[in-house]
Amino acid sequence: MSYYKIFGFQKEPFSTSPDPDFFYLSKAHDAALTNILIELRLKRGLGVILGDVGTGKTTLSRKLIQELKNREDCLFHMILDPSFDDPVLFLSCISKNFGIPITDNMSILSLREALERFLFQKAVVEGKTVILIVDEAQKLSESSLENLRVLLNYETNEFKLLQLVLLGQLELQSKIKEIANFFDRISYKGKLEALDFKEMKEMIFFRIKQAGYESDMNIFLEDALYCIYEATGGHPRQVTMLCHRALKTLLFKNKLVVDSQVIEELIQEDVKTGWQRTSPLLQKSSY
Ligand SMILES: Nc1ncnc2c1ncn2[C@@H]1O[C@H](COP(=O)(O)OP(=O)(O)O)[C@@H](O)[C@H]1O
Ligand SMILES: [Mg+2]
Repeated sequence: MSYYKIFGFQKEPFSTSPDPDFFYLSKAHDAALTNILIELRLKRGLGVILGDVGTGKTTLSRKLIQELKNREDCLFHMILDPSFDDPVLFLSCISKNFGIPITDNMSILSLREALERFLFQKAVVEGKTVILIVDEAQKLSESSLENLRVLLNYETNEFKLLQLVLLGQLELQSKIKEIANFFDRISYKGKLEALDFKEMKEMIFFRIKQAGYESDMNIFLEDALYCIYEATGGHPRQVTMLCHRALKTLLFKNKLVVDSQVIEELIQEDVKTGWQRTSPLLQKSSY
């Protein structure tokens, strides 16, 4: 029997996979999602969402896709890892994603033309919103950014033919800033941050509820929540992982609720085994 069923969950509450059903809309996450959806409706072209590792970018993109799936006028694709140094491979990847027939040995120019024809057909003739979502966008090479800039140039008097959503770690910002005419095209700039205490608490209880927990008992006591916040600084991935370990500990120790002792022991275990984070958050003397 899975550990989570023993505690009355239907699903694993603190899985680290980017499941949109477990996505808690903090103020920053909600603002980013809403703004991107508005920009897409207005067909303004380029939206960029920045965030440190584990702040929820990939999960946000899944949530976005969940929304777009319900819209018949939207055609979208997502690139999970855009590490292409060769522009031909990059453009071929985008073309294949959109189902554009390409042949071997096509030049950059002919790939761009094929994409332009496709975008014109879909966006202008068929009236669709064509969207390309790029996760891990900090991995885009200079030449890939340049090619995306070219695709963003395809437009009618009223709208861009391609809508681009980039999600990436903070270094994406400096990369983009170096390309002035790319930077100028960004119509929405969003940033995901770590959660504050109240939001972190809400996220934990939201995930517990989504996992099918029905009991009135609080499985995480308030003092444990403070310890979790102190240890993680409210970074969603770190919170999720610590909560997962805390529930497993209950099982080993035959306990019913997570209190501060459970969390402190986990942190101490990390310190002892050298697995503690080097972030200043964990260098507190109390640990
Ligand atoms: N707003 C949120 N609500 C619930 N869980 C979240 C939230 N943001 C992030 N997480 C969780 O944190 C982990 C890391 O999120 P992820 O989207 O992979 O971050 P990133 O792509 O920014 O590195 C995942 O388990 C995810 O489910
Ligand atoms: Mg990610």
